[in-house]
Amino acid sequence: MKSKIEELQHKVTEAKLGGGQKRIDRHHQKGKLTARERINYFLDEGSFEEVGILVTHRTTDFGMENQKFYGDGVVTGYGTVNGRLVYVFAQDFTVFGGSLSETHAEKICKIMDLAVKVGAPLIGLNDSGGARIQEGVRSLGGYADIFYRNVQASGVIPQISAIMGPCAGGAVYSPAMTDFTIMVENSSYMFVTGPNVVKTVTNEEVTSEELGGASTHATKSGVTHLTAANDVQCLEDIKTLLSYMPQNNQETTAKLSFELGDEVREELANIVPDNSNKPYDMRAVIDGIADSDSFFEIHKDYADNIVVGFARLGGRSVGIVANQPMSLAGCLDVNSSKKAARFTRFCDCFNIPLLVLVDVPGFLPGTDQEWNAIITNGAKLLYALSEATVPRVSVITRKAYGGAYDVMNSKHIGADMNFAWPSAEIAVMGAKGASEIIFKKEIAEADDHEAKLAEKEAEYADKFANPYRAAERGFVDEVILPQDTRRKLIKAFAMLEGKKVERPNRKHGNIPL
Ligand code: COA
Repeated sequence: MKSKIEELQHKVTEAKLGGGQKRIDRHHQKGKLTARERINYFLDEGSFEEVGILVTHRTTDFGMENQKFYGDGVVTGYGTVNGRLVYVFAQDFTVFGGSLSETHAEKICKIMDLAVKVGAPLIGLNDSGGARIQEGVRSLGGYADIFYRNVQASGVIPQISAIMGPCAGGAVYSPAMTDFTIMVENSSYMFVTGPNVVKTVTNEEVTSEELGGASTHATKSGVTHLTAANDVQCLEDIKTLLSYMPQNNQETTAKLSFELGDEVREELANIVPDNSNKPYDMRAVIDGIADSDSFFEIHKDYADNIVVGFARLGGRSVGIVANQPMSLAGCLDVNSSKKAARFTRFCDCFNIPLLVLVDVPGFLPGTDQEWNAIITNGAKLLYALSEATVPRVSVITRKAYGGAYDVMNSKHIGADMNFAWPSAEIAVMGAKGASEIIFKKEIAEADDHEAKLAEKEAEYADKFANPYRAAERGFVDEVILPQDTRRKLIKAFAMLEGKKVERPNRKHGNIPL
């Protein structure tokens, strides 16, 4: 028995060395943690149980039968994060560059299947040279097996992808189909075709970092939701993200203990400027409403005319979608609509109530927007909010104009509680534009056009640049003092806790894509 135990110990020790000490040292020199170090840092101490540590590849081409490493370039298993079960895989760059073989894929699929059966989040730590070149189509089949499972698991368990090294070619599509992607700055990149192919096909000179580095995807493409300065920060951010979501779509996020006090926040009364054309930072409103330091922003550097993220409100996890008057006056455009729609759908999948803060002058005008399908893209947000069955509460802080009023979680598309501040302006359009159209003749006939326009503008503003018409119709449930907003929202979400909505049976809706 002793020799058998020693044999096992020998194998496990070898497996834990991955591609060997030399490659580990090279990996460390790049400032990166190894796959095992990442898992150990990420999970609660001692909680990791590995699955498939002794798996090896089955390839015999190109002399591969003589190059076998236990684990085959990916560490897979389960453990806990703050006591909660999660499944995790971490690609091991020290073994064939973390490239994906048939068996490597099988290992990932095995824990994905377990995660779905048990109902716990799946976290992928990606660091890979892509398809195992020596395996050809078997490797491609392995990717497809993972993609297929990503889709089946979507909306059932949360899936989070960290990009902690290369992620190119087909490899990018698994992260793309998970709920959140987080990239490590300066040591990760994602692209479908790399700089060499780009140069050959389009003659563009571009570095890997420019083409698909963390900051590119955080600002230009929106492919990544978060970026982190290094491996450790990346893993910490995933833990924080997980804290706002439940284990699966049958559960709700655990509520933190909370006792209702007066919850009055005087500072909220001083945020919206008297001049309604002046910007202000909607994040100040969020900070005034949410539990202290609880706001965790998603897609911070992308489409910053809308702010989305998670927060706690009276201990309860909520998703926040908020127009940002500091950027493009808070107009909705193609990218902000897509960003907010995607976030809304995540929250709805996982029973996270939605708070929508509204200050929107309308949709952004222009050929660029129209030709890039603001119609279809704006419809995504309209659709996503309309189909959401989670508790939905809105606060109109200032402008709610035109079609954007409807889109931003209006009563008409199923919001449960709609509040407005006294500074709210709810109308078809701003007073100046409206007066120029409906009083065109009167203004043209007046001796002093400017004076007439000003008079009519004031008349229109007096009638509509307020929340009271909407409140009279019940489209706004209550006009509230800004300083009472936090208390009102905590009570509204508590009241809505038991919300249940039945929808007609259908295979799935057809969201405009
Ligand atoms: N298949 C098999 N082995 C691979 C591989 C792949 N796709 N990608 C990398 N490797 C191996 C390398 O042969 C090397 O092996 P070694 O340790 O025995 O020398 C090891 O992984 C590390 O690769 P290396 O090229 O030395 O690392 P790097 O940091 O300089 O570059 C990449 C990393 C990913 C940029 C580079 O390896 C690469 O371009 N790989 C191919 C990417 C690709 O085209 N994939 C297929 C399409 S999806």
